[in-house]
Amino acid sequence: MRVLGLYCGHDASAAVVEDGKVLIALEEERLTGTKKQGGIPARAIMYICQALRCSPWDFDEVCVATPNLHSGRTHAEDTNSVLRMYPNARLVPHHEAHAALAYVWSGFPECTVLTLDGGGADYFGSVNYCSGGHIERVASLRKDEDEAFGMLYYYVTEALGFTPNRHEGKVMGLAASGRDLGLFDGLFWVDGEHIRSAGKREENIVFRRLNSMVAQYTRMSSPLSRDDIAASCQAAFERTLLQWVKGNTVGKLAVSGGCFANVLTNMKIANLVEDFYVAPPMMDDGLSIGAALSAFLWCHVGSASLVARPRHMYFGLPPSAFLWCHVGSASLVARPKHMYFGLPQEPRHIWKPESVAKYLSRGYVIGLFQGAMEFGPRALGNRTILADPRDKSINKTLNERLSRTEFMPFAPVILEEYAPEILEDYEVGKANAPFMTSCWKVKEEWVSKIPAVVHVDGTARPQVISRDVNPFYYDIVKAFYDMTGIPCLINTSFNTHEEPIICFEQEAQWALKTGRVDVLVRG
Ligand SMILES: [Fe+2]
Repeated sequence: MRVLGLYCGHDASAAVVEDGKVLIALEEERLTGTKKQGGIPARAIMYICQALRCSPWDFDEVCVATPNLHSGRTHAEDTNSVLRMYPNARLVPHHEAHAALAYVWSGFPECTVLTLDGGGADYFGSVNYCSGGHIERVASLRKDEDEAFGMLYYYVTEALGFTPNRHEGKVMGLAASGRDLGLFDGLFWVDGEHIRSAGKREENIVFRRLNSMVAQYTRMSSPLSRDDIAASCQAAFERTLLQWVKGNTVGKLAVSGGCFANVLTNMKIANLVEDFYVAPPMMDDGLSIGAALSAFLWCHVGSASLVARPRHMYFGLPPSAFLWCHVGSASLVARPKHMYFGLPQEPRHIWKPESVAKYLSRGYVIGLFQGAMEFGPRALGNRTILADPRDKSINKTLNERLSRTEFMPFAPVILEEYAPEILEDYEVGKANAPFMTSCWKVKEEWVSKIPAVVHVDGTARPQVISRDVNPFYYDIVKAFYDMTGIPCLINTSFNTHEEPIICFEQEAQWALKTGRVDVLVRG
């Protein structure tokens, strides 16, 4: 059974799942170039149909996830338009799609699934117990009772002058430099399966307290620094979430939803539970896959065989995909000057991992473009920028070249067999390690060796790789290790500030031409 899954809120996406396995999945933002693109994922559907050589109506089933509450009326109308296009489509509630993705991909036949975000349809979260391919919801966090907690980071991000729903990671990065002054203490409390807050959204005390903080902050009359506000926010978020998780988890735990994008909290959750899995596309972009997977759970209730953890996230377009989304652009009309359209005389340069490693060890910044594009918020080796982690100053220079303003260092990609040597309490095979969904403490002796990838609190957010998942990527890191004794590199997404990760080769070549990277490697 081939199912098309769609999501039309912010982070719109489309995915095709066949017999429980993802064939292709695309975020609309990668195709339009607009970060967090919302609405009908028309281009994603178009490219999917091109890749699968089918029409938009050649699917056995279409499943559409309901949009985020804060997406506004537009995205609700977009969802309705899609339902008119596919009158027999199933509408999958937002948190059911989050839960289906977390459960099926966790690889845990029996587990607890928790979902929590800023608000989806009528709910902000859910508590589910799953076994044998069946998800039993035991509690829903209602919008009128539990809204504030899922929106805490949103409010604080806005209050500190960043763009909410986009720059929450910057606030988390700032938190490590500040002091927890208990600014949000007593505003949230766990009540069984629910997270209560002091008042409803409109008259929420959190809101009022934030507003007064911002007023003080902008007058510069407050002893509070931006870092202290961020640290207080992270501390309150962490305390409450950990208590909620602890009180509601039986056995292994799988999670999804925007609240679980907080890698510092995820690190602490991992120590609380028997085993822990974060859905790699935990934000709403994962809902197209989640909606499609929920169709399989409906059709195969009682079948635990559907539960299987994917080893990679390379579900996107292959490198050969051509940028043909500029329909209507007159600049594409150009008369050819020759007819030499046959095979080139010289074969394309084939890169050896050793030569890439040599460039890296000399301080060059490498753009790596290969294979199918990654799905989810992280670049995982196919649309990636690589650099030497030994030089801390690269955080400044590379951020400048990419026009980024970050408060966290870059993240490392680490060879699996050396991860226990670098990371504290790391065991080989950890579920979250390949997808950058959790942090680890870096061992003391490694902090000075790889300063560019260690945060001020001594943590790093690694991607741990094994050779079978991405051989060329692995071999580059291995060759760098053979040359320098350092089994890791900086891995940052191949994009500039406020842009989504690149999709097409033309974009990679543009990055080379404009000096964003020194060398472009086509794997
Ligand atoms: Fe969500």
